[in-house]
Amino acid sequence: MQLTIISVILAVVYVGFISAQVPIPSRPDGYGVGGPADAHVVVEMFLDPLCPGCKASWPTVLQVIQAYGTRIHLRIHTFPLPYHTNSFVASQGLHVVANVTNRNLDAIFQYTTKVFENQQMWYNDATKTMTMPQVIDSLATFIDSIGLVTKDKFLAGMANDDINGETRISWKYACSRGVAGTPTFLINGVTTSANSAWSLDDWKSVIDPILASNKKVSSQIKDCPPDQKQCAYAPHKTQCCLAGERCIPNVGCRCFNFKNGNKCV
Ligand SMILES: *[C@@H]1O[C@H](CO)[C@@H](O)[C@H](O)[C@H]1NC(C)=O
Repeated sequence: MQLTIISVILAVVYVGFISAQVPIPSRPDGYGVGGPADAHVVVEMFLDPLCPGCKASWPTVLQVIQAYGTRIHLRIHTFPLPYHTNSFVASQGLHVVANVTNRNLDAIFQYTTKVFENQQMWYNDATKTMTMPQVIDSLATFIDSIGLVTKDKFLAGMANDDINGETRISWKYACSRGVAGTPTFLINGVTTSANSAWSLDDWKSVIDPILASNKKVSSQIKDCPPDQKQCAYAPHKTQCCLAGERCIPNVGCRCFNFKNGNKCV
C-alpha cells in the first residue's frame, strides 16, 4: 500500500517536471527595439497577429516606442491563440521575416503593422472555405506585394521546420511566463493591466515614475568637476573621486592614505 502511494507520488512529480520544462530558446525570445535589453524600463508585448485587441493597441505601442526612443526597451513576442485559426501561420510569418531579413527590426515591426492593418483578410470567417496552403499563399502574396519579403522566400520559410520550431518555442515560452491572452504587457517582467484602452498618457503615467526613480544613477554619469576624477566602478554606477582617492572596482572612490586628520593624499 505504502509502496503504491510512493509510486503515485513519484509519478505525479515526474509528470509535473516534464510538463514544467519548456525548451530553452537559442537566444532571448522576441524582437526588441529602443534601448538596450537591460534598460531601466523593459516593456514586453505578447501579441497574436490576428487578435483585434492587439491591432487596437498597436498604434499606441508605436507611439510609446517613438516617445521614449532609447530610454526604454520594447520587445514583442508572438503568442498565437488557438481560436484564431490562422494565427500560428501569421506568427510563423513574423519569424520568417526575421529569418529572411537577418532579424531586421524595421522589417519585423513593419510585418506586424501591415498584418494588423489587414487582419480581416485572415480572420476565421474570411478563410473558412480556404485550405491551409491557400491561407499561407494569401499571406505570402500580400507580404510580397508590400515589398517586405519575396513570395518564394516567404513560402520557403513557412515550410521550414526550424522556423516552425522557433514559433512553437516562442509560444511555449509565453506559456511559461503565465501569458493566457493577448495583448499581454509586462513592464520589467511584471504583468500589467495595460490594454488597447491605454493612451500614450496612460503609458507615461507608469513609465515616467520608473525612469525618474533611476535619475540619480543617470545623473552620476555627468562629467565630474575639473579637480575630480570620474570612477565608473560598476555598470551604470559612477562616482567622482576627490584628489588622492582611488577608484576601486565594485566599490567606488576610496582613500588609502589619510594625512593631517582626514585629508587624503
Ligand atoms: C534562418 O533559418 C535557417 C534555416 O533554419 C537557419 O539556418 C538560419 O540560421 C536562420 N537565420 C536567422 C538569422 O535566424
